[in-house]
Amino acid sequence: MRHFHMCFLCFMALTTIFYIFHERPNWDHTASFHPDTGTNAVRHKKNTFHIVAVACGQRAQETLVMIKSAILFNYYQEYLKFIIFTEAPLTEIIKEKLTDWRDTLSQQFEYELLPLKFPNQSEREWKTLFKPCAAQRLFLPSLLKDVDSLLYVDTDILFLSPITDIWKYFGKFNETQIAALAPEHENENIGWYNRFARHPFYGRLGVNSGVMLMNLTRMRQFNWEQHVFPIYKEFKLRITWGDQDIINILFYYHPDKLFIIPCEYNYRPDHCMYMSICNSSHSGIKLIHGNRGYFHSDKQPLFKTVYAAIESYQFSSNVYSDFLLPLRTALNAQPVNESSCGKISGDILLVANSLFGSTY
Ligand SMILES: *[C@@H]1O[C@H](CO)[C@@H](O)[C@H](O)[C@H]1NC(C)=O
Ligand SMILES: *[C@@H]1O[C@H](CO)[C@@H](O)[C@H](O)[C@H]1NC(C)=O
Ligand SMILES: *[C@@H]1O[C@H](CO)[C@@H](O)[C@H](O)[C@H]1NC(C)=O
Ligand SMILES: *[C@@H]1O[C@H](CO)[C@@H](O)[C@H](O)[C@H]1NC(C)=O
Ligand SMILES: *[C@@H]1O[C@H](CO)[C@@H](O)[C@H](O)[C@H]1NC(C)=O
Repeated sequence: MRHFHMCFLCFMALTTIFYIFHERPNWDHTASFHPDTGTNAVRHKKNTFHIVAVACGQRAQETLVMIKSAILFNYYQEYLKFIIFTEAPLTEIIKEKLTDWRDTLSQQFEYELLPLKFPNQSEREWKTLFKPCAAQRLFLPSLLKDVDSLLYVDTDILFLSPITDIWKYFGKFNETQIAALAPEHENENIGWYNRFARHPFYGRLGVNSGVMLMNLTRMRQFNWEQHVFPIYKEFKLRITWGDQDIINILFYYHPDKLFIIPCEYNYRPDHCMYMSICNSSHSGIKLIHGNRGYFHSDKQPLFKTVYAAIESYQFSSNVYSDFLLPLRTALNAQPVNESSCGKISGDILLVANSLFGSTY
C-alpha cells in the first residue's frame, strides 16, 4: 500500500513537471479568462508593448479593427498588451471578440478592459470634454502605475507597420523628453491652431494627440497631472479640441519635454485632401488616422478602403491572398484612384508589400 502511495506521488510529480514544460502557453491562455482583474502574473522574456485606447459610444467595432491591425502587422511577434478603458455596453462586445482571437492565434497577446476613471473633483466635466471620454488619457500616468511606457492611440487609428517601428522613438528621447507626438499640420495656410486657436499651443502649428508615445515613468516624475489641472482651469472656456488642446498648452510651456515624430506615424485626411503635404514616399505610411469619421465616409474613399480591408480580414486566412491582394485591388479601383488621397495608395502599401508581398 505504502509502495503504491509512493508511486502515485512520483506519478503526480512527473505529471506536474510535464505539464509545466508542455502547457506553458496555456498559462497565458488562462490569464485571458480574467482579463479585467488588473493582475498580470505571467512573466515574459520579451518586452511587453503596451497599446492603450479609450473606447466609448459607438466605438467598439472601430476599437476591434484597430487591435486587429496591430496584431496583423505584428510581424516580429512582439508581445502585445492592449489596455482598453471602456464602459458597460462595449465591454462585453470587445471581450467576446478578443477571447475568440486569442483562441485562434498561436501568437500571443494579452488584454485588459478597465472602466473609465477620472479624478474625483469634476468627474462629469472631464467626461464631457471633447468627444466622449477622450480626456481619460490625461490620467494614464496615475491610473497605470505599474506601466513604464505605452503607445496611446485613438480608436480611429490603424497600424500599417509593426509596433517596433514607432516604439523605436522611445530610444531617441533625450533626458528631458517624456512623450512623442506628430505635428497637427505641415502647412501654415491650412493649419488650424495658427489660424484659429485662442490659447497657446506647441510649436508653429501645434501637435495632434491621436498617436502618443508616453513614458509614464517620466510623466509621473514630472507630476504631469498636477500640470493638467491648472491648465484646464485657466483655459477651459477657450479650448475647442478638448484634451488635445490641453496637451498643446502644456507642451507650449514645456517644449523641451516633447519629442516630435514624423507625419507618417499619424497620417490624416488633411495630409492628402487638398495636396500632398506629408512626404511618406520613402518610409511608407506607418499609422493611419481616419479622424472626423473618415474611415466610415466616402469623402476620401482611400480611408474607408483601408479600414474595410482590415475589418474583413480573418486571422485564420492567408495574409497575402486575403489581405494584401484585395487591398491592392481596392486601392486601384476608380473611386480611390480618382480622389486626391488616392495618389498616396503606394505609400499605404509600402510596408505591407515588404512584409507580406512575397507569394512563397
Ligand atoms: C476619491 O474618492 C474616493 C472615494 O470617494 C477616495 O477613496 C479616494 O481616496 C479619492 N481619491 C482622491 C485622489 O482624492
Ligand atoms: C522611460 O523613462 C525611464 C526613466 O528615465 C527609463 O528608465 C525607461 O527606460 C524609459 N522607457 C523607455 C521605453 O524608454
Ligand atoms: C531635448 O530635446 C529638446 C528638443 O530638441 C530640447 O529642447 C531639450 O533641451 C533637450 N534636452 C536635453 C537635456 O538636451
Ligand atoms: C521625400 O523624402 C525622401 C527621403 O527623406 C526624399 O529623398 C525625397 O526627395 C522627398 N520628396 C519630396 C517630394 O520632398
Ligand atoms: C487610375 O486607374 C486607371 C485604370 O485602372 C489607370 O490607367 C490610371 O493610371 C490610374 N490613375 C492613377 C492616378 O493612379
